[in-house]
Amino acid sequence: MSKRKLITAALPYANGPVHIGHLAGVYIPADVYARLQRRLGNDVAFICGSDEHGIPITIRAKKEGVSPQDIVDKYHEIIKKSFSDLGISFDEYSRTTSKNHHNLSQKFFKNLYDNGKFTEEVSEQYYDEQAGEFLADRYIVGTCPNCGNDNTYGDQCEKCGSTLSPAELINPKSALSGNIPILKETKNWYLPLNKYEDFLNEWIIEGHKNDWKTNVYGQVKSWLNDGLKPRAMTRDLNWGVPVPLPNAEGKVMYVWFDAPIGYISFTKEWAEKNNKNWKDYWQNENSDLVHFIGKDNIVFHCIIFPSMLKAHGEYIMPTNVPAFEFLNLENDKISTSRNWAVWAHEYVEEFPEQQDVLRYTLLSSAPETKDNNFTWKDFQTKNNSELVGIFGNFINRVAVLMHKYYNGKIPTGNENAVELSEITKAAKEIREFLDKYEFRNALSSLMNLARFGNQYLQTEEPWKTIKDNPEKAAQSLFVSAQIAVALGQLCEPFLPFTSAKLLKMFGIEQQSWDMVENSKTLINSGHAIHEASLLFSKIEDETIEYQIQKLEKTKINNAKTNPKANPMKDEIIFDDFTKIDLRTATILEAVKVEKADKLLQLKVDTGVDIRTVVSGIAESFSPEEVIGKQVMILLNLAPRKIRGIESQGMLLLTTKPDGKLSFVTPDDKVENGIEIG
Ligand code: 2FM
Ligand code: ZN
Repeated sequence: MSKRKLITAALPYANGPVHIGHLAGVYIPADVYARLQRRLGNDVAFICGSDEHGIPITIRAKKEGVSPQDIVDKYHEIIKKSFSDLGISFDEYSRTTSKNHHNLSQKFFKNLYDNGKFTEEVSEQYYDEQAGEFLADRYIVGTCPNCGNDNTYGDQCEKCGSTLSPAELINPKSALSGNIPILKETKNWYLPLNKYEDFLNEWIIEGHKNDWKTNVYGQVKSWLNDGLKPRAMTRDLNWGVPVPLPNAEGKVMYVWFDAPIGYISFTKEWAEKNNKNWKDYWQNENSDLVHFIGKDNIVFHCIIFPSMLKAHGEYIMPTNVPAFEFLNLENDKISTSRNWAVWAHEYVEEFPEQQDVLRYTLLSSAPETKDNNFTWKDFQTKNNSELVGIFGNFINRVAVLMHKYYNGKIPTGNENAVELSEITKAAKEIREFLDKYEFRNALSSLMNLARFGNQYLQTEEPWKTIKDNPEKAAQSLFVSAQIAVALGQLCEPFLPFTSAKLLKMFGIEQQSWDMVENSKTLINSGHAIHEASLLFSKIEDETIEYQIQKLEKTKINNAKTNPKANPMKDEIIFDDFTKIDLRTATILEAVKVEKADKLLQLKVDTGVDIRTVVSGIAESFSPEEVIGKQVMILLNLAPRKIRGIESQGMLLLTTKPDGKLSFVTPDDKVENGIEIG
């Protein structure tokens, strides 16, 4: 029976174009999945759109000196076009600034409000008196209390990675005016996530132990173990969906409240255009909801949005939330601000006929279970050796031989040939792998069929048997033609452009997955095919060199605009310096801080005492490596709590060219507690 499949892909922020990291980690896998579901005959709604609210948009607007509306108008179009150019087959691609979305979000909010699902809390938030605005965490900069990094944002330190709240920053300043902000009381509406813990535990921790990806399951479990707290669903901002309540002037919905509602409002837009009922997809137990997201979105899709849906009460929960890890580029983290990316719209311009090459490369190194890497060399090899050398080569050989020996018509052959079972096997494997969200394995099954085709031709050698055993040659070409058409049918979810070209060459319509998996023949004897044309072309060294050079230039530009050495800080006098108590010390014990990837808890002998220091070094050192190390410690730094542990002092560290941290240590081992100065 046909199933309703509601497939969503994370709404990209319309604050910049999309890059290969987005494509590999969300949109291409989601598209493959959606395409397969359609071929399986399911009733599919594949939904996405631009996320046009929130701080990422206003920050970009400030940077470019234009309005947030200008920003979203510009990037919505660029993103939408890139997706369409790359064959991402959304049924709906809308935007969260649409009237329909605002209406539905407000209705949703009002429903929760009227049913007493929110709590109201008054809190003190930083306020910029000059700008007349409350400051979002990202709009407050100061010194990181953990590593001393200046220009740290109020939510997270980009240097040491610690999660912060603006109140923790030393010398906080407004990023809008540079002024010192004041604390001002404000009222906001909170969703008490703690009330949904039991539901989430039962639904995910009990119910999805075996079928959800371990990265997703593990993250949810860890959040639930830590305990959930009420979370503000409104913000004091002037860009977003206005809170639909009296006395809520100047308040908008938290972007993570309205954005996922976008999945619903966009389904509604699509349904209205297509004579469907959106509720069949969102409020009916026979519908299967699957969210494709990146790993940074797990908490929002597995905890916050489901709690919102549960609070509302009329919605289904997702059956799965396949989240991907991140893709690096040439062994370096993709970064929009450093322009370290391969941008989708640039790729399409530079490789206008090679959309499927990018789809193939990104799928074959999809960051399914761990972060993965894209290199231009690898891209070239995958194209030249696999797409040209295996897939394209096989199809071309079949088409050319068919014209050479049979006038372009499929010869007569035995439909029960044992080799044809390879087609059923591949179709079944692909379907089963994709059902488990194993995209790389599914792609391998497809390529294995092409490999099989090549080997088969090589063993059969119809160009030889045609002379003394024409019947055998005909059989070989009959079987090869079936495999070629099967490849055309089965590659469609992965390589839709290639599939269309290949099926056209063989004069065959697209068939259902079931037909391909179960039919004996996919192309009949006597069927005439068109001229052979190449499906893929070789990518030359110069093309790859050009792309590598382009990245080199980015590196050089970055080095120019971000000189390594920060400018000197404000002058201090000697007395300021003497206030600092720096000592030699030795690390005695080290353990990882639970659920904090970056932190180690250390026991340090300072010569004065033995004390605990929490340090953001876990990504540079294992606990074993640091035990026994002599270090320098800032002894008289006021203690502060990090992840509930009191840290008494700070170790001196520097950063190596590879980004890893290194201790500042005395040249020779000395006693602990020696003053430095
Ligand atoms: O992380 C992001 O890019 C967000 N814009 C994703 C939003 S997904 C959703 F819930 F709308
Ligand atoms: Zn820091």
